Amino acid sequence: MFARLVPRYDLMNRLMTLGLDQRWREATVALAGPAGGLALDVATGTGDLALRLARRGWRQVVALDFCPQMLAAAAGKIAAQGESGRVALIAGDALNLPFAADTFDCVVNAFLLRNVVDLAAALGEFRRVLRPGGRLVCLDLTHPPAAMKLPLAFYRDTIVPFLGAAVSGDFDAYRYLGNSLKPYPDAQRLSALISRAGFAQVDYRLYGLGAVAIHRGCKK
Ligand SMILES: C[S@@+](CC[C@H](N)C(=O)[O-])C[C@H]1O[C@@H](n2cnc3c(N)ncnc32)[C@H](O)[C@@H]1O
Repeated sequence: MFARLVPRYDLMNRLMTLGLDQRWREATVALAGPAGGLALDVATGTGDLALRLARRGWRQVVALDFCPQMLAAAAGKIAAQGESGRVALIAGDALNLPFAADTFDCVVNAFLLRNVVDLAAALGEFRRVLRPGGRLVCLDLTHPPAAMKLPLAFYRDTIVPFLGAAVSGDFDAYRYLGNSLKPYPDAQRLSALISRAGFAQVDYRLYGLGAVAIHRGCKK
């Protein structure tokens, strides 16, 4: 599914979030702690979050994804922006990260967690590859507060799939957004899962009228 989305992936992100997705990525990077060390962007897609980390001064950024077509798109964008020296792309699975323990100063991800088949295993992998004290920051959709539930569900489950069909010719892939949210924990429960995975100082902030959450925690 992700491979099919690549040609119009960035355009659809800008359109369906009214341009806010890049601000949320910027907030994710700002929460990743002081720049300068080694950062990992898990499920980098077309590389937007990895590029932001590099531009914000992270010395070296490793950007991982399991979809070769996404990685190819990221490679083109990273080269075009002159960041190939600082952003290394690698094929791999979030559930079995190909890195030694205690490697990274921060681990970030955007719009990944709803997609993994085993959330606890992914959080365990993020913790394993972080150095003690390293920061985890996760950006993803969340369950909106009660007052916004109906309008946001209508937007996400009706408007966005039709927009996706018009722009990328793929109604089902954009219908998947709402479906992937159904079994996904709400922001409070995700905080609890992150704490249980071995992180301290876990908190989250809501964005986009409560449709999006950024969680963070520190490896104990
Ligand atoms: C919605 S896209 C998000 C891409 C990017 N992080 C962004 O901010 O636009 C989800 C990405 O997660 C990747 N992905 C999903 N599950 C994965 C896994 N288990 N391991 C590695 N990548 C995964 C997909 O290939 C896709 O590129």
